[in-house]
Amino acid sequence: MASDELKEMLNRAIAREMQVAIQYMWQHIEAQGILGEAASPILRQIALQEMLHAEQIAERLSYLGARPTTKPAEVKVGSSLKEMLELDIAAEEEAIRMYREIIKKAEEEFDVVTRKLFENILIDEEKHHDTFLRMREGM
Ligand SMILES: [Fe+2]
Ligand SMILES: [Fe+2]
Repeated sequence: MASDELKEMLNRAIAREMQVAIQYMWQHIEAQGILGEAASPILRQIALQEMLHAEQIAERLSYLGARPTTKPAEVKVGSSLKEMLELDIAAEEEAIRMYREIIKKAEEEFDVVTRKLFENILIDEEKHHDTFLRMREGM
């Protein structure tokens, strides 16, 4: 079965999925002005996708025989919409880096299902990254 190292990586992934679920949902609440009005529903939609990622990874980790963490990584909401988007772009870049590492590690351990799960999640994270980059354009 999965190594302790891989399980630890999955728990860090859960912590950061919970972090961004809260981060984007609170930005959705707090985004101000006409641009904030436009950004708000997008932030909400992505927040919900991140919570589903947390659930999927937690289910997998539980199957692999470890307890999923309940503690999110540090939430960084920001103030202006520009600052919010910069924090979000950085968060997605971190996810892309981490999930590539998890895919590589799962591959090494012949854990095909974990690899596939993170390949699918990585597709979403690259879309989020692209969405946030586009939203920040011209700010
Ligand atoms: Fe995610
Ligand atoms: Fe994401």
